[in-house]
Amino acid sequence: MKYSKEVIIKNEKKCLVRNAFGDDAEEVLNLFLLTHDQTDFLSSYKDQASFDVEFERKFLSDRENSEKEVYLCAVIDDHIVGTASIFPLGANKVSHRAEFGIAIDKNYWGMGIGKALTSAAIECAKISGYAQLELEVVSENTNALALYQKMGFVEFGRNPKGFHSRFKGYQELILMRLELK
Ligand SMILES: CC(C)(COP(=O)(O)OP(=O)(O)OC[C@H]1O[C@@H](n2cnc3c(N)ncnc32)[C@H](O)[C@@H]1OP(=O)(O)O)[C@@H](O)C(=O)NCCC(=O)NCCS
Repeated sequence: MKYSKEVIIKNEKKCLVRNAFGDDAEEVLNLFLLTHDQTDFLSSYKDQASFDVEFERKFLSDRENSEKEVYLCAVIDDHIVGTASIFPLGANKVSHRAEFGIAIDKNYWGMGIGKALTSAAIECAKISGYAQLELEVVSENTNALALYQKMGFVEFGRNPKGFHSRFKGYQELILMRLELK
């Protein structure tokens, strides 16, 4: 799906939310490695990434041409500072459900980019025909929880041993859902 929208975030800054393209591969990969080093709230660590720029290029090109999978990026001053994605949970009886993921460079937190990317992803999920958008969030991730609640996601369960962190041991995951129609 093609998506592109310029939004004004906090401090009157312009933020372009658009598809990440194959040519963004290096920047997106670097951002992935950076964000996976900056927090303990994502599902893997920087050193566990097993893909390179060429893999990323193909991955992004495929998403660009997909109707059901979307990989968005937030661009500030010509730099990609955040990404968000939608992927189907599966086929057949779960084909109405999509999973949402988001990560923003820590240097850009609190500027409204999370809200811009999440709104865009919700818009894309509706266009793609999904009935429900879902996510899992570490219960200590208060910034993300506040964002999701603000966007209308509601908790529907908890997994006490959802992640196993290198630093903290088990991390509880909160399961959230947003009805789209
Ligand atoms: C979670 C994350 C995406 C939030 O992005 P962000 O750009 O900082 O969020 P925004 O500035 O758009 O804030 C949106 C809302 O979230 C809440 N929020 C964000 N940061 C907050 C903070 N430090 N304190 C309280 N509320 C906060 C607020 O409700 C805010 O709305 P408001 O500004 O109108 O009050 C970002 O912190 C991030 O990438 N974290 C690391 C990766 C991660 O945890 N991903 C989610 C995995 S489930």
